[in-house]
Amino acid sequence: MIEMSEVSKIYPNGVSAINGITVKINKGEFVYVVGPSGAGKSTFIKMMYREEKPTTGSITVNGIQLSKLRNTKVPLFRRNLGVVFQDFKLLPTLTVFENVAFAMEVVEEHPKDIKKRVMEVLDLVGLKHKARMVPTELSGGEQQRVSIARSIVNSPQVVIADEPTGNLDPETSWEIMNILEEINNRGTTIVMATHNRDIVNNLKRRVIAIDNGRIVRDEQRGEYGYEY
Ligand SMILES: Nc1ncnc2c1ncn2[C@@H]1O[C@H](COP(=O)(O)OP(=O)(O)O)[C@@H](O)[C@H]1O
Ligand SMILES: [Mg+2]
Repeated sequence: MIEMSEVSKIYPNGVSAINGITVKINKGEFVYVVGPSGAGKSTFIKMMYREEKPTTGSITVNGIQLSKLRNTKVPLFRRNLGVVFQDFKLLPTLTVFENVAFAMEVVEEHPKDIKKRVMEVLDLVGLKHKARMVPTELSGGEQQRVSIARSIVNSPQVVIADEPTGNLDPETSWEIMNILEEINNRGTTIVMATHNRDIVNNLKRRVIAIDNGRIVRDEQRGEYGYEY
């Protein structure tokens, strides 16, 4: 599903963010990526959806070797991936419905299919009744639920989330986790970078710990394991 072999990333400014990572994430797994700030978590996951390219090494996602992926094919590749960010990244002038529909319109789905599917995913995240609102009318947790709906609307095989609960209070964070768990239970692979010790230690899943651009720990049903 996701495979990295001897992957390193040196940014143009000379910062060495990832130093020789080899890892395999299988279909249906739920993986937390933990580690101190600046450890390389975001770089690690950005390379999975080709936001960044590795300097050396190879990456295969959903059977596609990313080094061989032409730029023109990137949108098609991303259709099989959902991405969720800490700061939601919703389009402020669009309604909840439009924000989610947008992800389907760019892949030229039929309007009737779009309406049906968008309402389906909004129902899954509990926001069908707020479809006509705009992001500023929603709480942070609700905005994150919209962004999760957007990430799954094209039924991707993998959802990649970079600190999705980073801006949310503990109770709201748990609501978000329940939704991600439900999505994972339906078969979608989830890779989630997080600083949330409480979630990692309670909702036991595979933990990949990164420090200084290296994997320092990789455990099934792992613990958060840091003092920060
Ligand atoms: N676009 C970039 N250009 C240069 N250096 C970067 C860039 N993005 C991240 N870095 C550096 O790479 C290292 C890893 O960053 P990052 O992957 O964001 O870590 P984390 O998500 O674990 O906090 C840090 O030293 C950071 O400053
Ligand atoms: Mg980060």
